[in-house]
Amino acid sequence: MSKTWPLPFWIAHRGAGKLAPENTLAAFRVGAQHGYRAFECDVKLSRDGQPFLLHDDTLNRTTRERGIAGERAWAELSRIDAGAWHSRAFAGEMLPSLEAIAQFCLANGHALNIEIKPTTGRELETGQVVGREVLRLWPELPVVFSSFKPEALIGVAETAPELPRALLLDALKPGWLDQARGLGCAGIVANYTLMDRATIDTIHLAGMKAAVYTVNDEASAQWLIGNGIDGIITDAVDRFSAGAVPSSG
Ligand code: G3P
Ligand code: MG
Repeated sequence: MSKTWPLPFWIAHRGAGKLAPENTLAAFRVGAQHGYRAFECDVKLSRDGQPFLLHDDTLNRTTRERGIAGERAWAELSRIDAGAWHSRAFAGEMLPSLEAIAQFCLANGHALNIEIKPTTGRELETGQVVGREVLRLWPELPVVFSSFKPEALIGVAETAPELPRALLLDALKPGWLDQARGLGCAGIVANYTLMDRATIDTIHLAGMKAAVYTVNDEASAQWLIGNGIDGIITDAVDRFSAGAVPSSG
């Protein structure tokens, strides 16, 4: 079993990826300005093995470039504007390396949920490299690794076995709890629509944390808090105060 869960309750999604361009340093700054002290981001590898932030396999949606990001070298990716698509105010905001984000988090005392979002076909390698780099370069960074891809979590477990891992779930397929146990996970991070009281209790009985993505409305947040959820990933950093300590009582 891996180390203690280091994430606070409220976690900003993709930095603060609606008010600012997702998975950029600017998004982290906006989240931090709203009082957030923990962030989720999506990490994959460049062709030459540099971990960087991007949600999709391709550059198409969030840059003016086209094609598979993981087929390009970091020297090229690091010069790509990842802010202009969002709004003019963020033009010139570049694709960030995980290093830039980790340094920002370390300098400000923030925690990081690194979602390993491998380019298709590079699941194990991405987990291995990201785990190794986090342990080697930023051993003090409070971090949870998560992924929808079991192979990515196996990779992290090989290179950073003591750091906490979480299985991401967008469906409760048969065997999901055993799979999380088998991967040595410290938590489950599920689509919030999957969570009911029994599922939250089941996760807790297995000795794991139960967190959810991506909750942006007050009623859902209140229901989840009342039913014992341990963490919420949200885009709505301007609506939910990260300073509020949830109480189910
Ligand atoms: O890590 C939680 C959440 O980010 C998973 O979904 O598609 O936003 O990466 P997605
Ligand atoms: Mg994500």
